Amino acid sequence: MHHFLRHWTWYFNFFALHIILNLIVYFSSMNSKSLMLLFPAQNDIEKPTTGTLWAPTIEPKSSPSPYLTIDPKLATFRPNYPWLNIINAADGGVYVAYIFGEPDLENLLAENPKLVLPVLLSLDFEFCADDIPEIVNRILTFYFGDLPVGRSTESQLVNLFSDYFFFTGVENASLNYGGEVSVYRYTYIQSVTFNSLRGDGSLRAAPTHSDVLLNFFPDLKNFPNRTYTEKDVEVSKLMVEALVSFIEDGNPTKFSSIKWSPSDLTENEIYQKAEPFLQEQCISERLQFWSTIRAEFRTKTLTDSQIC
Ligand SMILES: *[C@@H]1O[C@H](CO)[C@@H](O)[C@H](O)[C@H]1NC(C)=O
Ligand SMILES: *[C@@H]1O[C@H](CO)[C@@H](O)[C@H](O)[C@H]1NC(C)=O
Repeated sequence: MHHFLRHWTWYFNFFALHIILNLIVYFSSMNSKSLMLLFPAQNDIEKPTTGTLWAPTIEPKSSPSPYLTIDPKLATFRPNYPWLNIINAADGGVYVAYIFGEPDLENLLAENPKLVLPVLLSLDFEFCADDIPEIVNRILTFYFGDLPVGRSTESQLVNLFSDYFFFTGVENASLNYGGEVSVYRYTYIQSVTFNSLRGDGSLRAAPTHSDVLLNFFPDLKNFPNRTYTEKDVEVSKLMVEALVSFIEDGNPTKFSSIKWSPSDLTENEIYQKAEPFLQEQCISERLQFWSTIRAEFRTKTLTDSQIC
């Protein structure tokens, strides 16, 4: 389990919370410098470092006990033990909540999404600078149509962050995994959500990043007055059952009352259809959008940027 969690953490191209917090400084002080300048108080930064919250860190092979020595995208390690993936339907809310907690940033985004979105998404970790303006145009058209980017389009914004930072990574990792993979998209909203602790606490889209954990832990530190509805308890029991079943058998449904229908990985629809884990809403089209972008534009890895 420990290993799985680390794998999970490293695989995706997350960007750091403090990028957001420094964005205002960034925009007021410079126009066209590299994203890496956003990482303050660290010397010689060429690559994302552990100074960021979650960005993968490539460690030299010569360093003491290096964990990650190549870009995870290039990794050929394909373990074959079973893997349980659970993503929260509004995972990307973890970023949007903090944007909404910074009024200056929120305004900048609304006024100039073409400038701000690439930074928030760290698009230059993956795409060539020359291509980014066109990619952003495509993002704006696909996710927002003619609508403004901001609170009035909260769910679109959350979908964008969920897709780019979580779902496409889960899809790719699941498709490329060496063993059996169970993927849940968790959609139930407990009576409390981590949204209330992030930014100004106003984000509505849920369940957001970490919310699934509320089924396993009361988390009285963060939610000292937490109460449970009957449904909260029921879902929590199901989740615990699924986890125990997975630990015992590698199959989260064997000893649990969860029923799901198999999904077709090749059709981009990786999410198992199990209540209460999946809403009817299908996200294939969103995953397809990113496959198309990644097929159409040059992509680079963390260690190989010559491509641009
Ligand atoms: C997804 O997996 C394929 C096959 O390993 C790889 O070539 C591709 O670069 C991956 N895409 C992303 C976005 O990681
Ligand atoms: C929890 O309830 C107590 C007693 O009503 C109150 O003083 C406290 O502020 C509450 N804490 C939170 C985080 O809501």
